[in-house]
Amino acid sequence: MLVSAEEMLKKAKAGHYAVGQFNINNLEWTKSILLTAQEMKSPVILGVSEGAGKYMCGFKTVAAMVSAMVDSLGITVPVALHLDHGTYDGAKACIEAGFSSIMFDGSSLPIEENVEKTKELVAICKEKGLSLEAEVGSIGGEEDGVVGAGECADPEECERVANLGVTMLAAGIGNIHGKYPDNWPGLSFETLDAIQQKTGDMPLVLHGGTGIPDDMIKKAIDLGVSKINVNTECQWAFQKATREYIMAGKDLEGKGFDPRKLLAPGAEAIKETVREKIKLFGSDGKA
Ligand code: 13P
Repeated sequence: MLVSAEEMLKKAKAGHYAVGQFNINNLEWTKSILLTAQEMKSPVILGVSEGAGKYMCGFKTVAAMVSAMVDSLGITVPVALHLDHGTYDGAKACIEAGFSSIMFDGSSLPIEENVEKTKELVAICKEKGLSLEAEVGSIGGEEDGVVGAGECADPEECERVANLGVTMLAAGIGNIHGKYPDNWPGLSFETLDAIQQKTGDMPLVLHGGTGIPDDMIKKAIDLGVSKINVNTECQWAFQKATREYIMAGKDLEGKGFDPRKLLAPGAEAIKETVREKIKLFGSDGKA
C-alpha cells in the first residue's frame, strides 16, 4: 500500500536523518528502487515529474504500476508516490490518479499566488490524507522543462508557507538540479539555518541531491533537512552501466540482445546508487 510521506518525514526530522526521494522513469527504475529500499529496510519516496508521468503514459498508469509492484514484490517498507515539481493542474490530476503525496511548485509565481494555491491544495490533501510539499525560492538548473534561477529562499516567506499546513517545505539554498558547475559556491547553510529557525519542526526538502558532497549532505541533515531528492545520479549510473555492456559487445553475445539482459546492468547500477544514498542519508533500518 502506498502511504503519505507525513509520518516517515516526521520520524526522520525527529531522528536526524533524511528519507531519499528517487525519481522514476519506467518499470526498471521503479523495481530497482523498491527492492533496494526493502533490502535496506528504509522508507522511500518515488518521485514522478510531470514529464516522466507523461512518458509513462500518464499518472494513472504510474499509480497503477507502482501500487501493483509494491504488492507483487511484497514490499513492506513505507512507500510514498510523490508528484515532483507539480503545477496546480498536475497536482489535481495526481490526487485523482491515486498518488499518495504531492508537490506543488509555486515558486515561479508571485508569493501571494503561491500562498493562495498552496492553501487550496493543503485543504484537498488534508481531506484525502495525502502529504503536500510546497516550494519557496527556486531550485537552480532545469528538470524536465522546469527551469529555475536558483535564488535562496526568503526565511520569512518560508515561515508563511510552512504555516499554511503543508507537510514539507522545499526551500532554495543554492542547490541546483543536474550537474553542479565547477565554480559552485556550495549550499548556503546560513540560509538553511535561518529557515530552520523560522519553520521549527517542518521537514525541509533538499532538491538537486546529485553531486552534493557527503559532508554538505550531512550538515544539511543536521540543520533540519529530512528529505533529499536524487534523480540525475541514477540516470548517470544507468547510462554508464548500459554503455559498458554495449561497448564490451555483450549485446552481440548469445541472447545478450534480450531486453531483460540488456537493461540488467543499468538496473543493478541504480540499485547501487540508491544503496549508497540511503546509507548516506541514514534512513537504513528506519522502516
Ligand atoms: P538531481 O537530478 O540534481 O538529483 O535533482 C533531483 C531533484 O531535485 C528532483 O526534484
